[in-house]
Amino acid sequence: MTTDKRENNKQKVIFSGAQPTGSLTLGNYIGAIQNWKALEDQYECYYSIVDLHSLTIRHDPKAFRKSNLSFLAQFLASGLNPKKNVIFFQSHVPQHAELGWILNCNAYLGELNRMTQFKEKSETHKDNINAGLFTYPVLQAADILLYKTNLVPVGEDQKQHLELSRDIAIRFNNTYGKVFEVPEIHMTKVGGRIMSLQDPTKKMSKSDEDANGTIFLLDDDKVIIKKLKRAVTDSENKVNFRDEQPGIKNLMTIHSKLSGMSMEQIENEYEGKGYGAFKNDIGEMIVEYIQPFKEKYNEYMTNEDYLEAIYKQGAERAREKAEATMKVVRKKLGLVKF
Ligand code: TYM
Repeated sequence: MTTDKRENNKQKVIFSGAQPTGSLTLGNYIGAIQNWKALEDQYECYYSIVDLHSLTIRHDPKAFRKSNLSFLAQFLASGLNPKKNVIFFQSHVPQHAELGWILNCNAYLGELNRMTQFKEKSETHKDNINAGLFTYPVLQAADILLYKTNLVPVGEDQKQHLELSRDIAIRFNNTYGKVFEVPEIHMTKVGGRIMSLQDPTKKMSKSDEDANGTIFLLDDDKVIIKKLKRAVTDSENKVNFRDEQPGIKNLMTIHSKLSGMSMEQIENEYEGKGYGAFKNDIGEMIVEYIQPFKEKYNEYMTNEDYLEAIYKQGAERAREKAEATMKVVRKKLGLVKF
């Protein structure tokens, strides 16, 4: 955060995060991170690697530690400037878990039962439907409310969790007196939901069993081109942006977000050319687009000391803000001061 931003206490606050599971996908990048970068000059921004959220799924601790550091390197390689943004691990700020518990006592079972992500995850992890998976959206609300966040840039899949965070903030403020800002969701008009390349009715996901459906930013160039070649399309053989052609619509969205071209320009560019050239061009475009990301990522990964300096500094700044909020929360609740 620049000094200017800190001095200006009217500066609005942004919080967002990503789970350090697997590696970042093109969906994460287009749906969220591309926006984070765009907002860093106008807001006081907190971007967290939400490691506690990832504990809802069974994991190998050794691999998890690596994946956490890799995510930090991926955040930085995406261009997030640690001088302008507070970048930190969620677990380094214990106030997240503290507020999470408090908000659990202000969230209703009925609300949590309606969460579609819980229903989906319970389906895919039938042998481990743990309580954390169920209360996950409450911890997410704590992440957001802890920083008195005004704006949360996320993809479309997080909309329901954001609505719950708003409801909890309003309920808490009405019950105990105003503490929290009621956060607004920030989503791109195009690209809020990048779909799987193998099933364009499903969102592109880190945890998709079919890796061909997902582009990972750390995929090999050849793998990316191959995944694009195999992307599911249709038999219309026309590059048109319409709901009846969900595969093409998704590919056009990716093209547009990376090239900056409008859908109309893309339609004109590929008129009469067929899908082969279209898919190949997008593959090459992705490879070229993420080349600098990969180079920076490799540099950061060879410098663990630098990564440590960044996450320690980030946690310190985040704790300062989080503790200021928690002091008020504890007082409002009638907890005895320590
Ligand atoms: P996660 O880690 O699944 O995803 C990180 C961000 O990427 C967006 N995203 C997508 N956007 C477009 N198309 C897709 N296919 C796609 N897949 C993912 C997500 O919407 C998200 O913005 N619960 C969150 C992490 C979280 C969080 C928070 C986010 C925890 N606490 C507080 C915001 C605020 C999650 O699992 O994101």
